[in-house]
Amino acid sequence: MKLIDGKAIAAGIKDQIAREVRAMIDRGEEPPHLAAVLVGEDPASHSYVKSKEKACAEVGFTSSVYRLPANVRQEELLEVVDFLNQDGGVDGFIVQLPLPDHIPVGTVIERIDPRKDVDGFHPVNIGRMVQGEPAYLPATPFGILMMLEKANIATEGKHCVVLGRSNIVGTPMSILLSRKANPGNATVTLCHSKTNDLASITRQADILIAAIGQPGFVKADMVKQGAVVIDVGIHRVPSAETSSGYRLTGDVDFDSVAPRTSWISPVPGGVGLLTVVGLLQNTLLAARGSVYPLSREQR
Ligand code: GUN
Repeated sequence: MKLIDGKAIAAGIKDQIAREVRAMIDRGEEPPHLAAVLVGEDPASHSYVKSKEKACAEVGFTSSVYRLPANVRQEELLEVVDFLNQDGGVDGFIVQLPLPDHIPVGTVIERIDPRKDVDGFHPVNIGRMVQGEPAYLPATPFGILMMLEKANIATEGKHCVVLGRSNIVGTPMSILLSRKANPGNATVTLCHSKTNDLASITRQADILIAAIGQPGFVKADMVKQGAVVIDVGIHRVPSAETSSGYRLTGDVDFDSVAPRTSWISPVPGGVGLLTVVGLLQNTLLAARGSVYPLSREQR
């Protein structure tokens, strides 16, 4: 078993991004600017946004956060989205999910200008991704592709089983792995909570991507000897051993599964760090106008 070192992989890519930011500044350009909209008090969302701000500072990006109360009216949130769509100083922005129940997520996401949708959640970006056109890729699947590439884990011809069909991880992951690309060119099976005899399918996986959203769901008897296991889950479970009172764990029962694998990504220290890198990469692409031909002067 080898551990995929998410921390080292993320640090290497962040160094590369930081070099590109310095080159922009040397040319007299503004550094990329990522904004985040944070609604309510969800502790996990606050912690994600904080880690995005920290990562921006590390690579030399400008970042800003728009904080709104949990009882914000839908119209007020849409006004903030409109403002950021039109703010020439912002290259890309995200609306941190989940949103409070009274706000329809789809309405908010569709209001974001696809050219600034660095989360890759807008239907235009998802449609372009499916068709293999230039698009912002959703940050977590994008991060997993970078992780596989940097760890030299080949996907071509492999059977990849994706566990979970969420809009932000499982569904786009299954599409990206099956695309004619590298990483990609895999045979993909997408499993979910209604899949019959799930373990018989996950046991066929050369590469198993666990994004089912349940702590410790993947057990040793669901994994083939020598498989690669990528754990996308991030759960806070109570712990008497940490000062915060909780510890982070993934969708994989690490202790029982790890000995069966050839490679496994840990939680923490795995996919989560690459998700942030995916967002930074998209923001750099936005600042350069690489995905959409929109120069900063045109905004
Ligand atoms: N909530 C959990 N993951 C994500 C993400 O990648 N982007 C946003 N905006 N919200 C999230």
